[in-house]
Amino acid sequence: AVDQAEAFAPSNIALCKYWGKRQNELNLPVNSSLSVSLAHLGSHTQIRPATSGEDQVILNGQVLTADTPFAAKVISFVNLFRGQQNYPLIVDTRNNIPTAAGLASSASGFAALTLALNQYFQLALPDTVLSAFARMGSGSASRSVFTGFVEWRMGQQEDGMDSHAFPLDVSWPDLRVGLVKVSSAQKAVDSRAGMKRTVETSGLYQSWPAQAARDLETIHQALIDDDFSQLGATAEHNAMSMHATMIASWPPLLYWQAESVAAMQRVWALREAGVEVYFTMDAGPNLKLLFKAKDQLLLETEFPDLEVVAPFAEDSKTNLASESVN
Ligand code: DP6
Repeated sequence: AVDQAEAFAPSNIALCKYWGKRQNELNLPVNSSLSVSLAHLGSHTQIRPATSGEDQVILNGQVLTADTPFAAKVISFVNLFRGQQNYPLIVDTRNNIPTAAGLASSASGFAALTLALNQYFQLALPDTVLSAFARMGSGSASRSVFTGFVEWRMGQQEDGMDSHAFPLDVSWPDLRVGLVKVSSAQKAVDSRAGMKRTVETSGLYQSWPAQAARDLETIHQALIDDDFSQLGATAEHNAMSMHATMIASWPPLLYWQAESVAAMQRVWALREAGVEVYFTMDAGPNLKLLFKAKDQLLLETEFPDLEVVAPFAEDSKTNLASESVN
């Protein structure tokens, strides 16, 4: 082990969603998914030896007691790397995700932790293996190991080692992602529980794997054709299809609030008026807008608290992992 290690990983927004697991312990998904990473928004994680002899988890400057579910999850994840060796560690994570934006920090958090552990134990694991490890912490973390557009292939193997993400070789400097804050209230049902309920009780879920496969193909083609409206429309349709499966669960899973619907209607009205803007939504009430740089001012006027990210800005083209398989 080195003296200390530090890593950053970005949040990501799925354009074709991961919803449903074929195996719960390893976070093996029912479908492949595709996302865009959010440049500088994400998690910084530092790992250093714990001189006290006890593991310690620090989140945004606050020491968590070992029995909080988050700290317990982090420690059991660290154990995957540390094996039987006795290396008490301090895992110190800071998220720079605006709390108001309602972005989950588990994707960037587990990706940054994986990258930091790889350095700390000098494992020099290939990117795709790091992605498969990050996936075990949180499915969407598999995608946060990379910048730009990222695809997570579901894989076939039972051990999940072929279920990992890889970066797509496409750059869209004009793409903007706008985070619309509807509510920062803690979500009622987390993704893990929400997926489980949907898979087990939603009659509409059986249509989801084929829908996701089609949408993934269409988004691939849109990336090749440099077709923004095809990408945006498919991402929005994919998110709405996922939410339809959730709503048809029992008890119903409706992550939307009245303000979410109002924001959707504003997006649709803008589109009617000729503005190329689309949205996507995850397991929470907030919308994420997709638009082009030229429309940023207009959208900032329409959505006053909009937090705008440029996923392909010059300064965000960093290589996150220390080793590359390519
Ligand atoms: C709706 O990756 O948070 O954001 O694997 O249980 O940790 P776990 O779930 P998580 O689920 C993300 C679900 C989603 C869609 C997506 O990001 O693809």
